[in-house]
Amino acid sequence: MNKTNNKKRPSPTVIFIFGGSGDLNQRKLTPALYNLFLDGFMPDNFAIVGTGRTEYSDDKFRKHLLDGINDFSRRKDDKSGSWEKFAPNVSYLKMDADKAEDYKGIAKIIQDLETSWGEHPSVLFYLAVAPQLVPDIATNLHKLKLCKDKAGTRIVVEKPFGHDLKSAQELNSLLTSLFEENQIYRIDHYLGKETVQNILALRFANALFEPIWNRNYIDHVQITAAETVGVEDRGGYYEQAGALRDMVQNHILQVLCMVAMEAPVSFEANEIRNKKSDVLNAIRKIKKTEVQKYAVRGQYAAGWMKGSKVKSYREEKGVALESTIDTFAAVKFYIDNWRWQGVPFYVRTGKYLMEKTTLITIQFKEAPKYAFPPEASETWRANRLTISIQPEMDIRLRFQAKRPGQTMSLNPVDMVFSYNDNYDDPQPEAYETLLLDAMMGNATQFMRDDQVETAWEVIMPILETWESRPAVDFPNYAPGTWGPEDAEALIAKDGRTWVTLPPKKKD
Ligand code: BG6
Repeated sequence: MNKTNNKKRPSPTVIFIFGGSGDLNQRKLTPALYNLFLDGFMPDNFAIVGTGRTEYSDDKFRKHLLDGINDFSRRKDDKSGSWEKFAPNVSYLKMDADKAEDYKGIAKIIQDLETSWGEHPSVLFYLAVAPQLVPDIATNLHKLKLCKDKAGTRIVVEKPFGHDLKSAQELNSLLTSLFEENQIYRIDHYLGKETVQNILALRFANALFEPIWNRNYIDHVQITAAETVGVEDRGGYYEQAGALRDMVQNHILQVLCMVAMEAPVSFEANEIRNKKSDVLNAIRKIKKTEVQKYAVRGQYAAGWMKGSKVKSYREEKGVALESTIDTFAAVKFYIDNWRWQGVPFYVRTGKYLMEKTTLITIQFKEAPKYAFPPEASETWRANRLTISIQPEMDIRLRFQAKRPGQTMSLNPVDMVFSYNDNYDDPQPEAYETLLLDAMMGNATQFMRDDQVETAWEVIMPILETWESRPAVDFPNYAPGTWGPEDAEALIAKDGRTWVTLPPKKKD
């Protein structure tokens, strides 16, 4: 079924996926492109070229990607012939990203497509590769003058974008010397999630919330991004990252920006990004001497997850025996502007936690209770808005209700909006949305150079302090818990607690 409705489709496009034989392409990128194809969003003329050092024939490569679709995509091959229509557009180019010589193969493919399509295609270079390869690839692409068509040539760079502020600045200055800023798409897949995009609709398409969305009514904000998996087979990468770099510097700070930004005057890419940048700039830089007061780190021990025995982080493949890398991080941020002065933003993330959940909590201040009899307010709770990004995908507004009966007794109830109950259509995956945006040249949901750098500035004092004072108490939390006790203390000392949603009732 063609669901394009009034949505425009991209012009003829060729997508080169560096790291084509890798996991990200098999699990996310090609499944996303296939779903866009099924939904009628791909242009009539398109080509997807995986590049890499692994040896593949086109057919073997297609088979590898089809396996990925059947294992990981929200829609499998339904044997209706769609895959057979999609597959001929996919090919593989064996090349060494380090060798300038090998880039001639790319130029030839573009040239051949131009001849066969009768027009110059838009070109998307998707860099799904280790960060250290990015400078070489970008430089080689530039040398070949493949990017001469500035409007139609774009480069998508996966996270991690740099390893710290200095390396991010270096990478930005290299990329912006080779490409125009509006050709560079720094991807953060959280920004493509439906529920994250919906934050703007909730805040700015309703008259209800904006007047109370500030320090006068909001007591504090929480963002939890908890995972039930460990580092899996990514120990080597994770040793260079840790939870603060892997999740807070990018995903969590981006979500925080969506919650805290001022109303945009338009949805134009730079307008939205300016508003987000304002938030990042206003986040108070934590003094190195005060890091302990504002940030908590953790690392998982060996233990049990959902009935299975799991290794400690230090026993994972590719991890040092005495590693002091964080697999859990919690931070209390303040945003020093008129809207948020004095309102803490507590964020936490970790591997092997109790539940897989990404949850935003807006905790409102208490209403005055004096009019009610004391017993009425025993179970009184302040209003709370919880936005469940995943897996539930719902929004709950908690308010007080009178319990039925002859006495005035109050208790909190939830008003719930659930995506699944309200919409029949399956949700597109984040990568579908972002790949389509990149093909259309819409950079709104991608990060600009200054955003990435400011996000690094925000976390650098914590990173540097942690690196200069390796943790002595690691491992300090058991799998299947909510992380180290200090994370509870971080919020409890302010008289507050972390919010989790009650488990979903089974029908
Ligand atoms: C990635 C991190 O960016 O996001 C992973 O590198 C993490 O460590 C993942 O598991 C989480 O993404 P999601 O969409 O499953 O919440």
